[in-house]
Amino acid sequence: MTARIIDGNALSAKLRGELAAKAAELTAQGTQPCLAVILVGGDPASAVYVRNKVAGCEKAGIKSLKFEYPQDAAPADVLARIAELNADPSVHGILVQLPLPKHFDEKAVLEAISVEKDVDGFHAENVGRLSQGQEAFVPCTPNGVMEMLKSIEAPLRGAEAVVIGRSNIVGKPMAMLLTAAGATVTVCHSGTRDLNFHTRRADILVAAIGKPKFVTGDMIRPGAIVIDVGINRLSSGPDAGKLCGDVDFESAKDVAGAITPVPGGVGPMTITMLLANTVESATRAARKA
Ligand code: GUN
Repeated sequence: MTARIIDGNALSAKLRGELAAKAAELTAQGTQPCLAVILVGGDPASAVYVRNKVAGCEKAGIKSLKFEYPQDAAPADVLARIAELNADPSVHGILVQLPLPKHFDEKAVLEAISVEKDVDGFHAENVGRLSQGQEAFVPCTPNGVMEMLKSIEAPLRGAEAVVIGRSNIVGKPMAMLLTAAGATVTVCHSGTRDLNFHTRRADILVAAIGKPKFVTGDMIRPGAIVIDVGINRLSSGPDAGKLCGDVDFESAKDVAGAITPVPGGVGPMTITMLLANTVESATRAARKA
């Protein structure tokens, strides 16, 4: 069996077309959606992510503001910028690219962002709202995964879902969303005793580990839906420099029923969901105006 490929580029293109139409409508009514992005330090991967986010905004008719700070920036300067953006009614979304340099208190920075402009969904209040099923900005990567599952009409109610990874950005909110959708969810991590036992009984397997080609075909239940959240750049071997996921695509595709590729899977959907949250925030602001 060869797995169905869940094409994140194609789904993104469709959704971004719809978002661009909404952004144009809001702009015509006097509220152009606007996202402010803050990047601290010179991490090359973060710089690429930020560039892609800004380019995604421009293409969808969303205004973007980019603020860059050096690696040794004073946290107070970044917090002052966030306060300024919180107070600016023309800004609808504020995103601080993670990770921040070690001398920053990441939690304090995320908490400084106004809950109404927290389009990444990382503020503790949005996390709490999501956990209680209240309206909230949902973190972009797991939200994108849910859209991908929806696009293939994956049966979620009663499904066995296994998430590998327990990060605040992906694993934890992913588990909350799958639980809310009716799946029975297991969260695995570095302390899990028998990982294969769990992965082999998953109808839906989400890999968010950060280790290249970690999940191999023998770990997958035949016919399972495999979602690969990893974006790793190979540093050695014949494919050095190329991107690969947390799943060994070659062995997985012969076992899985459906699978997301890397690149062209979850990655573009993360940005699409960021644009969606920004347009949603602008819609709420326009309603209030
Ligand atoms: N770093 C890795 N993923 C993300 C993300 O989704 N948002 C932000 N702000 N930083 C990240």
